[in-house]
Amino acid sequence: MRIDVVTIFPAYFDALEISLLGRARQRGLLETHVHDLREAAHDRHRTVDDTPAGGGAGMVMKPEPWGEALDGLLGAAGEEREPGETEPLIVFPSPSGERFTQETARELAAERRLIFGCGRYEGIDQRVFDEYGERGRVRLLSLGDYVLNGGEVAVLAMVEAIARLIPGVVGNPESLVEESHEQGLLEYPVYTKPAVWRGREVPPVLLGGDHGAVEAWRREQSLERTRRVRPDLLGLQAGRAAE
Ligand code: ADE
Repeated sequence: MRIDVVTIFPAYFDALEISLLGRARQRGLLETHVHDLREAAHDRHRTVDDTPAGGGAGMVMKPEPWGEALDGLLGAAGEEREPGETEPLIVFPSPSGERFTQETARELAAERRLIFGCGRYEGIDQRVFDEYGERGRVRLLSLGDYVLNGGEVAVLAMVEAIARLIPGVVGNPESLVEESHEQGLLEYPVYTKPAVWRGREVPPVLLGGDHGAVEAWRREQSLERTRRVRPDLLGLQAGRAAE
């Protein structure tokens, strides 16, 4: 998979060099390219924002630098595209977007090319979304119901969630199956050695060697935890969770 990121803060993406993502890149499973939006701004100050039409607080990202940056990436992608291959999906992280979930991560992990556009300030001029939505595929995705200063941290989170689903990136694919949200439930609690730590025991069922009993215990713990912490995942109302 190839991922391009357009941002005014390329340094955020130094984090792509480390840990699992760094290894995936070294092994050729993931290719990432980070582009500075200011290179597509041509005035003396490389201005990428301006005051909002209609007035109000804050600044809005101007459409022209986005147009130039995205045209460049889509043009290059078009030249490299093989017959039958779909055009890249452009993702803009935004608190106004649809919710990014494990299911979204799975959908995006099946793409060949993703382009992420990181907004800052009060957001990007709407015409950018309209233009590229009409010409191709655009998704606005929100990490959650809170506001970050910009899209960079959201993109890092999304790229990590997506990349670990690419076959070969996570060493043991079984570890992807059991974890929180893969089965629509939160993951059960996990333990390791020593069997007793500060007087706290590993639940005896986990040390008894009965795999069926371990599985049943984990399932019950998952359900109980989900009921208590995230009843919405079970279609229950929050107020009823404590019953
Ligand atoms: N940009 C600012 N806040 C965001 C959020 N909650 N999710 C995605 N992108 C964002």
